[in-house]
Order: sequence, then C-alpha cells, then structure tokens
Amino acid sequence: TKKILLFCDPGIDDSLAIMYTMLDPELELVGIVTGYGNVTIDQATANAAYLLQLAGKYDIPIIPGASKPVQQEEVSFYPEIHGEGIGPIQPPSDLQYQIYPFDTIRLIIERYRNELIIVDTGRSTTLATAFILFPEQIKMVHSFYVMGGAFFVPGNVTAMAEANFFGDPTSSNFVLKFAHNLTITPLNVTQFAILTPEVAEAISENERNIYASMIAPVFEFYYEFYKESVPGIPGAPIHDLLTIMLVKNPTIVDYIYYDAKVVEDIEVKGMSYIDFRPTSNTGETRIAVNLHYEAFLEEFSKVMLPE
Ligand code: BDR
Ligand code: CA
Repeated sequence: TKKILLFCDPGIDDSLAIMYTMLDPELELVGIVTGYGNVTIDQATANAAYLLQLAGKYDIPIIPGASKPVQQEEVSFYPEIHGEGIGPIQPPSDLQYQIYPFDTIRLIIERYRNELIIVDTGRSTTLATAFILFPEQIKMVHSFYVMGGAFFVPGNVTAMAEANFFGDPTSSNFVLKFAHNLTITPLNVTQFAILTPEVAEAISENERNIYASMIAPVFEFYYEFYKESVPGIPGAPIHDLLTIMLVKNPTIVDYIYYDAKVVEDIEVKGMSYIDFRPTSNTGETRIAVNLHYEAFLEEFSKVMLPE
C-alpha cells in the first residue's frame, strides 16, 4: 500500500479525496494535516475528523496546521463553493476527536521514511512550515504531490491565479523550490476531472460506499456553484481527488518536466509560471498537462462504486 500524509483544507473536493483514500485498499492514510483555505482551520479539522469517524477510523492522527498565510492577516474563505461544513453537511456539534501536536508530522516521517508520500491539496503554508521545522525529516520523504497552479489557462481566483497558490504564494514557492520528487496537479488538468450528476447519483445509491448518503447533497451544493461560474460545465471538478489518484495511477495524465514558480507581487499574486528557457530549469518537477478522462473515470468508479 501507498502511505499518504495528506495536507488539506476540506472543503468538498478535499473531502472527496479523503473518502477516496479511505475506500481504496491500496492507499493508506497515515495522517491528516489540516489548514485554513476553503474554510477555517477549525472547520477543516472538524470536517476531516468527521470523515474519518464515518469510516470508523479513530487511529489516524489529525494535526491542525496553519490558520493564516504568511503575508497577511486577513484570510478569504469560500463558503459559496464549499459551504460552512462539508458543503451543506455540518459535522455533529457534539463530535469528539483528538488532535495531535504539529511535531507528530516529524514522528510520522521518521516512522515511514522513504515509504511516505506527502500530498498537499490545500494552501501551502502548513507544508512550508513543516519544511522549515523538520528539514532533515523532509529529506527522507519519498515524494510530494501538490494540487496548485494554472498553466496556459485562466485561474479560478483571478485571471492568473489558482486558489491554492493564490492563498499563500510565498509558501507555495518555498514548497516548489525545496520539495524533491515533486508532481504538480494544476488547474489546467484538474478542471477536466469532472464528477457528473450521473456518477454522483450512482455513488449515492451504492450500498457499499460508506459515504453514499453524503454524496448527493454535497455534490449538488458544489455543482450549483460550478453551473453558475462555468456555463455549460457537465459536472463539478474534483481537483484534489485527482491529485491523490495520481499517487497510484500516474498514467492517467501526461506530464512535462519543468520547474514551476509562483508570482508573489500583490498585483499578480498567485500566478504560476514556468521559465521555459532551458538554462533556467532543472526539469525535475513533474507537471501534469493532460488528463485521460476515460482512465480517470474508470479508476474513480472502481474505488467509489465498490461491487
Ligand atoms: C483548489 O482550491 C481549493 O478550493 C480546492 O479544494 C482545490 O484544492 C482548486 O483550485
Ligand atoms: Ca483543497
């Protein structure tokens, strides 16, 4: 099994990524590190805890990370896209869960070392902080998968910027610079990882999917937003789920190998770019550029529609 430490801000597509990981026997979630982003850090943490408890997993550590980016005090949240809970679903108000201190990240890395894969589907602040606090341990990690950026296409926060890299571009740059064995799943690919109403309905009717009863309301909420903002879109993109899917199924996308950077200046904050000059690149970062939708759907259905 692939051992994953997930940094995330659930968030609907982060939540779907967590569900997917819980349901795929070949993926093992060894910890969830939550951060601000789609929702507040407290909400993200409660949402993650709720999803783990629904799966009966009480032993996966939940580690709260950053509550704000490095550059500024104010944080934008996105309730119109992700709701105030998991879409319209609030974790029970009496939900009990244990949270673990930040140092648990170090312990998890030391335990799994070269077997550990770090996936970051949220703002980059928390992961950058782990890089700063645990530099020696970070070197032991097998590989990194980061959802963020938008190459050759418009962003989803501004014309130039995608939400994860817009949220804290300084931290994103830090991660892009220092993460080894890095795969980036940017918006230009994740925007095509569409969950359609038909497939969502099939999941909600699947008795073997433990999350079935949540899928319809959560999907509906999420799709409502996308219908408004992207006229004619046939479903809702599940950016973060695609990112985690690549850990096991790298060939459902094509890649180019370049280093990516993020613009930190406030006027064009969060814009991601590649310096294509051959002398400016080590070519060590794997950037997804094209999604094979049929292969994606097949893999998605295999896990989310268990027989
Ligand atoms: C990314 O931003 C968040 O809103 C989503 O959860 C995803 O990680 C897409 O731009
Ligand atoms: Ca996310």
